[in-house]
Amino acid sequence: MASAPAAPDAADSPEGAAQPGAGSRPPARLVVLVSGSGSNLQALLDAAADPGSGFGAEVVAVGADRGGIEGLRRAERAGVPTFVHRLRDYPSRPDWDRALTGSVAAHRPDLVVSAGFMKIVGASFMAAFAGRFINTHPALLPSFPGAHGVRDALAHGVKVTGCTVHFAEAEVDSGPIIAQRAVEVRDDDDEDTLHRRIKEVERGLLVDAVGRLARDGYRVEGRKVYIP
Ligand code: GRF
Repeated sequence: MASAPAAPDAADSPEGAAQPGAGSRPPARLVVLVSGSGSNLQALLDAAADPGSGFGAEVVAVGADRGGIEGLRRAERAGVPTFVHRLRDYPSRPDWDRALTGSVAAHRPDLVVSAGFMKIVGASFMAAFAGRFINTHPALLPSFPGAHGVRDALAHGVKVTGCTVHFAEAEVDSGPIIAQRAVEVRDDDDEDTLHRRIKEVERGLLVDAVGRLARDGYRVEGRKVYIP
C-alpha cells in the first residue's frame, strides 16, 4: 500500500487521513510542470490566490521543457519562480531527467503536477516523486492514453470522452486514478472544439482533485485512491 499525504503535517498520520484542525495547516507545496499554454496551471494559480477558495495548496514553482511558452509567462505574472530544462541541452535523457529532478526537489514539493507537460520523465524523477506525481489527461483512462487522447477518441467514434487526473507511474497514463469527469462528443466536433470543452471541465477537475489531496490527505491501495 502506498500512503502519501500531501499536506505537510498529514505526513505523520497513519494513512494520510485528514487531521483535526486541517484548516490551520500550511498549504501543500505544488510544483507544476508545463509545456504549452498552461491554462490548467492558471486554474491552480487562481485557486491558490483566492483567499476564499480554501484550496489548501500553493504553487511554489513552475518547470518547463521549453522556453517562450505562455505557461511560463503565467507563472511569472503570478510571481512564481520558474525553471526550464530543454532535453536538447543535455548529453543524454538520464542527464536531463536528473537535472529536472534536482530543480523540482529544490522546491520541496508535497505534490508535483504535470499539467500538459509533454515529456516522459525517467527513473530519477519517478524515484524521487512516485506517489506524489500527478498527471492530467484529456480522455477517460484507460481509454486513449498517449499524446493524442482527444484525436484518438474522436477517431474511435466514442460518444462520451472526458478527462482523468491520476498518479503518474513509469508507464505513460497508467497510474491509479484520482478523479474523472465525462464530456459528451458532438457530431460536429473536431479535435480543437472537443479539446476546448474537455479543458474547461479538466481545469475544474484538477483544482478539485489537487485541493482534496492537499486538504484531506490520501492513500493508495493497489489501483485505488482513497481520499477521506
Ligand atoms: C490538457 O488537456 C492536458 O490534459 C493535455 O494538454 C492540455 C494542456 O493544456 N496533456 P494547458 O497547457 O493546461 O492549457
